[in-house]
Amino acid sequence: MLNPDFPFSYDHYLANDAGLGSVPESLYGTEVAVIGAGLSGLVTAYELMKLGLKPVVYEADQIGGRLRTASFAAAPQITCDLGGMRFPVSSKALYHYIELLGLDTYDFPNPLAEPTDSTVIELKGQKIYVEDPADLPVFYQEVADAWKQALREDAHFEQMQQAIRDRDTHTIKALWDSMLEEFDEESFYGFIANSKAFKQAGFEHREAFGQVGFGSGGWDTDFPNSILEILRVVYTDADDYHRGITGGAAKLPEALWNHAPEKMAHWPAGTSLSTLHVGAPRGAVAKVYRTSNPGFNGANTIEVTERFGRTQEFGAVVSTVQSWLLSTGIDTDEDLFAPELWTAIERSHYMQSSKTFVMVDRPFWKDRDPVTGQHLMSMTLTDRLSRATYLLDNGEDQPAVILLSYTWNDDALKWLSLSAERRMELMLHSLEKIYPGVDIRSHIVGQPITVSWESDPNFMGAFKANLPGHYRYQQRLYTHFDQQAMAAEHRGIFLAGDDVSWTAGWAEGAVTTGLNALWGVVQHLGGADAQANPGPGAFLAEIGPKAL
Ligand code: ARG
Repeated sequence: MLNPDFPFSYDHYLANDAGLGSVPESLYGTEVAVIGAGLSGLVTAYELMKLGLKPVVYEADQIGGRLRTASFAAAPQITCDLGGMRFPVSSKALYHYIELLGLDTYDFPNPLAEPTDSTVIELKGQKIYVEDPADLPVFYQEVADAWKQALREDAHFEQMQQAIRDRDTHTIKALWDSMLEEFDEESFYGFIANSKAFKQAGFEHREAFGQVGFGSGGWDTDFPNSILEILRVVYTDADDYHRGITGGAAKLPEALWNHAPEKMAHWPAGTSLSTLHVGAPRGAVAKVYRTSNPGFNGANTIEVTERFGRTQEFGAVVSTVQSWLLSTGIDTDEDLFAPELWTAIERSHYMQSSKTFVMVDRPFWKDRDPVTGQHLMSMTLTDRLSRATYLLDNGEDQPAVILLSYTWNDDALKWLSLSAERRMELMLHSLEKIYPGVDIRSHIVGQPITVSWESDPNFMGAFKANLPGHYRYQQRLYTHFDQQAMAAEHRGIFLAGDDVSWTAGWAEGAVTTGLNALWGVVQHLGGADAQANPGPGAFLAEIGPKAL
């Protein structure tokens, strides 16, 4: 996911034996606050620890953030991923950690993808069944072609993908900067409707594109967002070639928390984030305020207060929470950020997202109908309430899982007020219309599991997605880790998390912004990059996101 806004090769940076920098020995053991034990916070903390610093991780709820895996009470070995569940192989910084920690992955069964036995598309009551995408009716081929053509003609698609493959940063930047200003203010839907390709193809094609989309499926709930958000995804193959983490996505944050790195400054062998915290992170953060005590880099220290009262002072603080929480969930000293940064924080747009899972006795959908020869049920895309249904197989000798519905935005909002039970009923109603002969209910065991991220006060939304005109806000948030030119009163607090990245809703952005924050903290404390491995901040001026 070499991102066009900042095509820095984080994977090479991570793989370089020279390491991610150092701090003076006199600072070994210095405590740095990390708010949030999601992927971004844990990557930051893990790397801070490797440099000999002492991360102090605060967590309001569960370790793992939106890499949250739930388990069915009736069969705890059977799990479901409530947040991130499928990770594009182009996320090379993410896979650096997946491999380092020895986690297994599997092909994720997306619509029409290679590992998916069969896919059903049901729109306007018309049902299509395919095992091989090549067998899709001409109409759907035309829809896919129109999208390809629009990208080619209006967004330099081939050239951009080639430049990304070649890591040709200058071409990437030149192409991107030529589109940035205009496309920042163009919505995804505007881009489609204004393209020659879709104008010629007609409304029905645009409508079907919204339902079936690209990569993992229907993207019409993103229609109001800036087209820049979508281009970033398709250029970097972020919605293709997905893999899941065996045993659940939460294995990754758990492993980061428990892993004792081989090469570490200062800390004895066997030290892990878990041992540094004696097994549990600190509690929820209630308050973050500047003190009047001098700290590092000309800035005063920052005080972090927990909900149950404990206060501690730090020279540097990394906040990885969804940025809205800085004004809603945490009492944050207004003077910590410049007013323009507050604007960027407050104008953030979060997508809602909901999932409902049921456990079934076995992967019965693989059986074939004796008359039609088709699988009893397929990965399903529909314009009904449920929108997307995924079939998750744990092998013939284990119960299986159906993700009855995974939705975004308006489609997720429809579920928000409903109980798990009621959600399941409505979803089954949709599926029974699509698969009239199949008795899905008779296979269901245990209780349904559901989530609406927007109803969780520690998240308030599933993932960010910039609306038209939001580029400037994202640019501010993203580049905030380079504090060289910043007023002293604003230094020392760093933001990370996928919502600070250019690809919110992808774990890669959590990892890479965590590394940015690490870089910022090291500079702030008076440390430096390894000479042979300059970090992200060293490249911002050259290939960083252009200010508009
Ligand atoms: N990556 C997430 C998934 O695979 C969803 C992120 C979608 N982002 C968006 N703007 N809609 O489901």
